[in-house]
Amino acid sequence: MTHPLGQRTIRDFGEQWTKYTDNHGYYASIDLLRDVFGPLLEVEDLIGCRVAEIGAGTGRFVRLLVDAGASFVLAVEPSAAVEVLKRNTRDLDRVRYLHAPGDRIPPTGEFDFVLAIGVLHHVPDPGPILVAAWHALRPGGTVGIWLYGKESNALYLCMLSAVVAITRRLPHGLLAAFVWLTYWPVAAYMHACRLLPLPMAAYMRNVFFRFDRQTRKLVLYDQMNPAYAKYYVAAEARDLLERAGFIDVRLYHRHGYSWSVTGRRPQDA
Ligand SMILES: C[S@@+](CC[C@H](N)C(=O)[O-])C[C@H]1O[C@@H](n2cnc3c(N)ncnc32)[C@H](O)[C@@H]1O
Repeated sequence: MTHPLGQRTIRDFGEQWTKYTDNHGYYASIDLLRDVFGPLLEVEDLIGCRVAEIGAGTGRFVRLLVDAGASFVLAVEPSAAVEVLKRNTRDLDRVRYLHAPGDRIPPTGEFDFVLAIGVLHHVPDPGPILVAAWHALRPGGTVGIWLYGKESNALYLCMLSAVVAITRRLPHGLLAAFVWLTYWPVAAYMHACRLLPLPMAAYMRNVFFRFDRQTRKLVLYDQMNPAYAKYYVAAEARDLLERAGFIDVRLYHRHGYSWSVTGRRPQDA
């Protein structure tokens, strides 16, 4: 049973991803997938593998996983966005869909990888999803997650918490207008980050700057829309996987602002 705040968050994403359906450019590129997991996972490791993606949204990573050579992808998405996901990936015959929260992924023990990219920080109680991922993986299979990080983001989080207290309650049209207004100071900050060592400069230079204007606005909307978002410190990120029984847990502090984490289901379990 999904937590009420989690249900509200799923509804928020259902609306977000039916308004912003398009995936293109660096935002939907293999380079970005490489960047997300950095040294923890080579894209080549996915060749011939069975992969489940929890919280697949509009399917940008589903397409990338197939492009990278996955033999089968199960795309799990609980929100109304599942219709967009299916539409965006209907030309891919190696994809199946599960319209359900991540804790309902079947315990088949068949997957080489279970990935959740930008998802678990939007789930108030992510433990059951990781336990379900453990049972969906084959022994020796790998879980990979990407989470918002707390370290080095104090100033940003202070500003964001004041803003989201209002924006989370706005209907789509008003939020989109607010994002349009916010875009210009953020874009000025992004350009300043190219010259100065300001907070979040690495993210601004290496990720945000590489998106086009439309995608940057989507990123701002994505920060201001969902009812629930948690920013993790390293120990909490590690704990998520270790509590579910994963071993060989490895963390990567992506551009110093977020956490990518992988772990393995033991061979003998
Ligand atoms: C920020 S979006 C990320 C989408 C996709 N992974 C991407 O990066 O393009 C978060 C996604 O997680 C989904 N989500 C939220 N709660 C979930 C849950 N309990 N189980 C599975 N997915 C969930 C949302 O519906 C949404 O599509």
